[in-house]
Amino acid sequence: MTDTALAHDFRKADWALVTGASDGIGRALAVEAAKAGYNVILTGRRTDRLEAHADSLRRAYYVSTICMTADLADPEAAEALWQEAIKDRRIAVLVNNAGLGRNGAFSDPDGWPRETESIMVNVIAATILMKRAVAHMAANGGGRILNVASAAGFMPGPNMAVYHATKAYLLSLSEAVAVEAAEAAVFVTALCPGATETGFFQADNAEKATVLTRLLPLPSADAVAAQGWKAMEKGRRVVVTGWVNKIFTFATRLSPRRLTALLTGQFLKRRW
Ligand SMILES: NC(=O)c1ccc[n+]([C@@H]2O[C@H](COP(=O)([O-])OP(=O)(O)OC[C@H]3O[C@@H](n4cnc5c(N)ncnc54)[C@H](OP(=O)(O)O)[C@@H]3O)[C@@H](O)[C@H]2O)c1
Repeated sequence: MTDTALAHDFRKADWALVTGASDGIGRALAVEAAKAGYNVILTGRRTDRLEAHADSLRRAYYVSTICMTADLADPEAAEALWQEAIKDRRIAVLVNNAGLGRNGAFSDPDGWPRETESIMVNVIAATILMKRAVAHMAANGGGRILNVASAAGFMPGPNMAVYHATKAYLLSLSEAVAVEAAEAAVFVTALCPGATETGFFQADNAEKATVLTRLLPLPSADAVAAQGWKAMEKGRRVVVTGWVNKIFTFATRLSPRRLTALLTGQFLKRRW
């Protein structure tokens, strides 16, 4: 183990900032952070859920917790959240998890509000937080960033086109910044789950529509978060969870891009 890595391990009293900590994978990642001994800043829009979760983390793991309510679709929110988060605190881990998607034809103008929100949250807010975190961590001896991308980032997704594009962006950004930031002991991991048992599809009223993507029993948010956290601790750059997703994402390297898009579009077609 290098001196830098050792120094980083000893700073467990530092803070982890987890976005989208009110539900699903982010909620489970906040547990992982507390379990690892980090104090946790939980953020999302639903303050009541954040506070209840923060309270349970404090009691179970004897860490400090703070809730910061933020709507990351607001262009000013990510910067304001970051400035609030670093007040007298050192952020050693950033978990960029908040995200949403929309299933439906790209041409349908009714989809635009949710697609805009997806771009703001999945792309703009995640990038701002990551940019701030890299500089902050580099100046403080290192840190770790876990970006929750998706297996969707490996393939174009007709009928969920904007969501897939946002995740391709986050995956690419993570891999590129991982190279740049490693010198400063800032380690970036992209977590790429496939369909996971969370409120993600209900939030888009797409539970029935995307039934084909959920043919097999889905992994729990806890299982996905545990794999992601472990991969981040090991300094892995990209982790795809579950063997089915590993096969699908590997197949995208062999299959012509046009065919991948065609097949993915069939899976994502609205059938109800
Ligand atoms: N579930 C899946 O099948 C799956 C697969 C691959 C990747 N992912 C990715 O995993 C991440 C977490 O999703 P999930 O499955 O856990 O979904 P989820 O249960 O719907 O949770 C989404 C989280 O994001 C937060 N969020 C959404 N919009 C927000 C906004 N405008 N401002 C601030 N926070 C916002 C929500 O908090 P509030 O509602 O309190 O704001 C919530 O905590 C996402 O990035 C998603 O793309 C999910």
